[in-house]
Amino acid sequence: MFLALTDFGITNQAVLKKKLDIQCWNPRDFTLDKHRSVDDRPYGGGPGMLMKPEPLARCLDELKRATTGPVIYLSPQGEPLDQSMVRDFSKLPEMTLLCGRYEGVDERVIQTRVDLEVSIGDYVLAGGELGAMVIIEAVTRLIPGVLGNDLSAQQDSFSGQLLDCSHYTMPEVFESLPVPPVLLSGDHERIRRWRLAESITRTRSRRPDLLVDSKLSNEQINLLKSLESGMNVESKDE
Ligand SMILES: C[S@@+](CC[C@H](N)C(=O)[O-])C[C@H]1O[C@@H](n2cnc3c(N)ncnc32)[C@H](O)[C@@H]1O
Repeated sequence: MFLALTDFGITNQAVLKKKLDIQCWNPRDFTLDKHRSVDDRPYGGGPGMLMKPEPLARCLDELKRATTGPVIYLSPQGEPLDQSMVRDFSKLPEMTLLCGRYEGVDERVIQTRVDLEVSIGDYVLAGGELGAMVIIEAVTRLIPGVLGNDLSAQQDSFSGQLLDCSHYTMPEVFESLPVPPVLLSGDHERIRRWRLAESITRTRSRRPDLLVDSKLSNEQINLLKSLESGMNVESKDE
């Protein structure tokens, strides 16, 4: 599954630039029985199978000797992943992402060997691998030198308190919809203020929760107040 990261896109570029190294450890390699079983029936009965503790524990113990950094278990019951968590992860030299399958992992492995449980959303996947891939891609974008221009990540939604503004490229008119004239003005200060007003308008209408208790700059607060009082702030509707 992880070839989707190592062989494609920005993560492939990061691997080639030696900024990202993904190593996959298979718990089956840490089984001692001839069937190499990693799952068993749950105590107490009920549907489904559970990942057995011993192969995972052996695998994680071996990993602890070989690597540094926290062990993060992908779980729908974990702390919700957000950009600030991604930012913290991007500062770590290494981390271990434990991916569950079946009904999950024996609780004693989580108790004894997991530092943090992380969820990628309030829905249930069949396995933790896609969640791990989401973390890896989001983190990789923040590693300096991975994106063509490191400023791109700083202007993204959630990097500050606001969603990103809208973006336009060629042609100047598409299906009779023109690019907002300010973007063709060449006036960098006007463009910056227009983008900021756009970001604030979008955040206010799509994600007002982000503006609660947010640490906006004075300029952002003044723009927000102007928008709230219905004052004419240059925006794409003009
Ligand atoms: C079918 S799920 C197990 C769900 C578990 N029985 C529960 O309800 O909490 C199997 C594995 O998928 C992964 N997984 C499923 N949903 C996830 C989510 N929203 N975020 C992160 N990992 C998830 C976890 O690693 C989990 O162990």
